[in-house]
Amino acid sequence: RLLAELVSPVTTQQPTTAPVDVRTLGQDLLLPWRHNRSASRHLMDEINNCTNTQADAILTRTNTRVGQKIRYYIQHEKTFQASRGFYNTLPRDSPLPATPYRRCSVVGNGAVLLGSGCGQEIDRADFVFRSNLPPLTGNFTRDTGQKANWTTVNPISQLNWRFNLLSNKPANKDKFARHVRQYSGLLWVSAFGVKAATTVSVRAQRVLREKNVKSLGVVYGNPRHFAAVRDYWAYNGLSMRLSTGIYLTTIALSTCDEVHLFGFWPFDVSHSGEKLLYHYYDKPDTKKKPISASPHNMPKEFLKLVNLHRSGILKIHLET
Ligand code: CDP
Repeated sequence: RLLAELVSPVTTQQPTTAPVDVRTLGQDLLLPWRHNRSASRHLMDEINNCTNTQADAILTRTNTRVGQKIRYYIQHEKTFQASRGFYNTLPRDSPLPATPYRRCSVVGNGAVLLGSGCGQEIDRADFVFRSNLPPLTGNFTRDTGQKANWTTVNPISQLNWRFNLLSNKPANKDKFARHVRQYSGLLWVSAFGVKAATTVSVRAQRVLREKNVKSLGVVYGNPRHFAAVRDYWAYNGLSMRLSTGIYLTTIALSTCDEVHLFGFWPFDVSHSGEKLLYHYYDKPDTKKKPISASPHNMPKEFLKLVNLHRSGILKIHLET
């Protein structure tokens, strides 16, 4: 989940769009799909005209100055002044290449992934985005794959609550370093949503350095980029708290020639009519969180993505 819902509990449920006939939708998504390269390129340019994802999605020493006041994107009234020490922890330049990746996978955490057998197809991409430190090992691998080049982390619910990194206890640091070794590339933290997120995000970076985890670098999401993506979607009919999945999809659409989505299915019933849990890793006996309880309007976001699928701009995969 993005930080918004953790810091400001939702009081009014977003109205969901008209009920979706999931079977028909599923059949539609399983039809043969052809990539529409010119439409993809057009959308890539459109997003990059609003915000330059390659240069600005991540805070770097190129897009940030010493002494700059970084404005939080949820707590707009608050800022963080970048000290020399903080600045020195940023990558010099964007870790994203100037030329687009050829093929990217964006993996959502929906239970539709379980039993999909999509692991190999996911890992076939040149670059793989994942959300919220999902499990990729053991029995999951066949469905999830193992490649992870950009993995998001929620600083409050994960770094703070799940790994308790602020406590500075060696056992917590070990547990965190052990868990994240299954990913490589970028560990992207939304460090500038709310003030409480920053210290623990900086701590995560220090822990990985201390533990000598070389395959993975903690980077901080640029709140200006997030705000620009939010405005882009608001202008295009999604005035809501964006989910991590649609944010990552937008990054992929603006930096990859071909975008493939997996694990996106925000419904309680599968395309073949079976009851579904929320996440692919939820246990049947854990208290089930209904999708309708999410503060994001995932079904409405999903229908936007379905339109992009129908236009050949991205492909939504449900099974192999
Ligand atoms: O943090 P957030 O609640 O946004 O995400 P998550 O539950 O960790 O799942 C990652 C992303 O997968 C979400 O942001 C959605 O875009 C997508 N998802 C989905 O489409 N259907 C589901 N049943 C669960 C997640």
